[in-house]
Amino acid sequence: MDPLHLRSAGTSLVISFDSGEAEVIHWGADLGATLPDLAILTSPVPHSAIDARVPAGLLPQASSSWRGRPALRGSRITDGDSGLDFSSRLRTTSVTSEGSSAQIVQADADTGISVSSHLTLHDGGLLELRHTVTNEGTTPFQVDELATVLPVAPDAVELLDLTGRWCRERHPQRRAIQQGTWVRTGRHGRTGHDSSLLFAAGTLGFGNRHGKVWATHLAWSGNHEQFADTIGDGRTMIGGSELLGPAEVVLAPGGSYTTPALFAAYSDAGLDGITDAFYSWFRSRPHHVLPAASTGLPAGKPRPVVLNTWEAVYFDHNLDTLIELAESAADLGVERFVLDDGWFRGRRNDQAGLGDWYVDETLWPNGLTPLIEAVTSRGMEFGLWVEPEMVNLDSDIARAHPDWIVGPSAIQHKDGGRLPLEWRNQHIIDLVNPEAWQYIYDRIDALLAGNNISYLKWDQNRDLLEHGHAGRSSVHEQTLAAYRLFDELRKAHPGVEIESCSSGGARVDLGILERTDRIWGSDCNDALERQTIQRWTGAVVPPELVGSHIGPTTSHTTARTHDLSFRAITALFGHFGMEWDVRSVQGEEREELRRLVGLYKEHRDLIHSGRRVHADVASDALLLHGVAAAGTPVVKGTTAALFALVSTRTSAAEEPGRIGLPGLDAERSYRVEAIFPAPGDADYVHTFTQVQPPAWLSDGAAASGRFLAEVGLPMPILNPEHALLLKVTAL
Ligand code: GLA
Repeated sequence: MDPLHLRSAGTSLVISFDSGEAEVIHWGADLGATLPDLAILTSPVPHSAIDARVPAGLLPQASSSWRGRPALRGSRITDGDSGLDFSSRLRTTSVTSEGSSAQIVQADADTGISVSSHLTLHDGGLLELRHTVTNEGTTPFQVDELATVLPVAPDAVELLDLTGRWCRERHPQRRAIQQGTWVRTGRHGRTGHDSSLLFAAGTLGFGNRHGKVWATHLAWSGNHEQFADTIGDGRTMIGGSELLGPAEVVLAPGGSYTTPALFAAYSDAGLDGITDAFYSWFRSRPHHVLPAASTGLPAGKPRPVVLNTWEAVYFDHNLDTLIELAESAADLGVERFVLDDGWFRGRRNDQAGLGDWYVDETLWPNGLTPLIEAVTSRGMEFGLWVEPEMVNLDSDIARAHPDWIVGPSAIQHKDGGRLPLEWRNQHIIDLVNPEAWQYIYDRIDALLAGNNISYLKWDQNRDLLEHGHAGRSSVHEQTLAAYRLFDELRKAHPGVEIESCSSGGARVDLGILERTDRIWGSDCNDALERQTIQRWTGAVVPPELVGSHIGPTTSHTTARTHDLSFRAITALFGHFGMEWDVRSVQGEEREELRRLVGLYKEHRDLIHSGRRVHADVASDALLLHGVAAAGTPVVKGTTAALFALVSTRTSAAEEPGRIGLPGLDAERSYRVEAIFPAPGDADYVHTFTQVQPPAWLSDGAAASGRFLAEVGLPMPILNPEHALLLKVTAL
């Protein structure tokens, strides 16, 4: 069989079948159209090892003497005898390919197992891989794990993954690759605050724009593992798998299980190259919120400016107050008003009401209509918060259907069965139970059908621990049932956008993003924390899909106080909004806020279609990141890029020195100006500590893209926790 060679956007994937199984020979730089005879890659056989070369299988298996983590773990149950057929010898039976996609089937007739692998190397270089295992035998086969992995080249010596907690999601951690396995396990039943959205290996010291990087993402919102597995012969596999609970997947004869997709990208230009591959894939999806002009798809509507009521009023829902807030928001140029938690029956605080998805008649005697009309008559869309997968014990639905509450016990809760511990006073509704699923579907469907709602903020505020249906572990089924709920509601209400929120950013993955239109990055609106959270969320997820709000002057989650300019420049590089009682913003500050809304509207097309770029800055106290226009050459006089210079703390050096502006066309000339805060803005004097600014700050600088990238500009001396917005115009 000829090798399979997929190529796209600087990336090649080569799979050989010479050993009898599918073996990944190369995933990395584009190798050109012609491959040599791959026999030249036949490696030596060491002493005290199997007497043959060990392939780096697309499905690593012990039957080929792969002594690392195998792709498939599982066994057969025959006449009550378990643990049979535990090791398959999978051999390629068919390979079909069309364009940049391929399907490879490998099977073992003796164990009655076949695995079909689907691979697509998308146009922007993003590889999508999933496997389906089928039980071809006559008795049940229990799948314990089916992993999707890829080998990385030997010069990948460092790992970067992300971790976090509530209000501090997606912070990076790095380590050297050494022998052994580095595993990031998520047992949250949801993606998790600590889940590694990006799991990358790279060459020594790889950075934002230098070094080779091989990165993966597992598109799954339930339990999972991501890992780098380095075996004794020095080879490393990276990838991930769904972490299945006991007997969660038992395949009947003919039954099959499909893994979550593993998305993988290679870059020879650091992490920004990885980001390019992910953004290109997101933006080419027909249902992407804002198809880039370059995709040829009809342009979507611009991402509306949001006002979310949570940090403005919390549970204190009062129609007059909310109408005042809506008026104030509309006056500032807000385009979408989102009513957060607190509107449904019995929900005066976070202890009751979840599950009773009826508008609270005591608070809203005329329903939500008066508020919705106040919002829509002012030209804004109306959005509503829901948390469909959850239930409070103090709710009518829990009282009527205690058997709908998820727990570890086969004995029902009403008959003394044990429930998991509460988390924010809440439990999980058993969506694996068809009646409970239908009830939730019907309630949300009725709300959407009966009210002029354009947007749902769909929350999910607890881990699924001890998650069972009828006494058996059911995270796998619950995750699929929740996906089905999103899918069916979207089908029934195609015009409604959905935001995925989960105690802030605990459900951020490509599985949920296939069925939602944005994620809430974090409950932390502190701009300093958000710089890191958004940088690493944005490594994979484009800014038009990442909610990013200006919070109150003093952060509610960290008690830090920041100038409006720092908060706004931070929120600008996302899907911009506010989460603040803007009625209290008056005078000069209000005028500034109004201008900022205008600034976002002026630049959102660029921010939401351009390439995200991050300079490699020597000082760890400074960041320089931005968005550079992608695709066709920029028309003279138009904005080619926006950059934020951000000071996160005091720096060791007296001044920042010159910093290059990456991502511009080397041959073209540009004009760079600092546009916000500008002299006259309230925050201008706080922003700098310098006797004299760099010369270009007052009049701008003109230079070629090459000069701006290679020489850079001497940057002003910013105060810590301040930022400056730069605009680059094409000359
Ligand atoms: C979660 C969300 C918040 C807010 C509250 C409401 O914490 O992350 O944004 O919606 O729930 O209870």
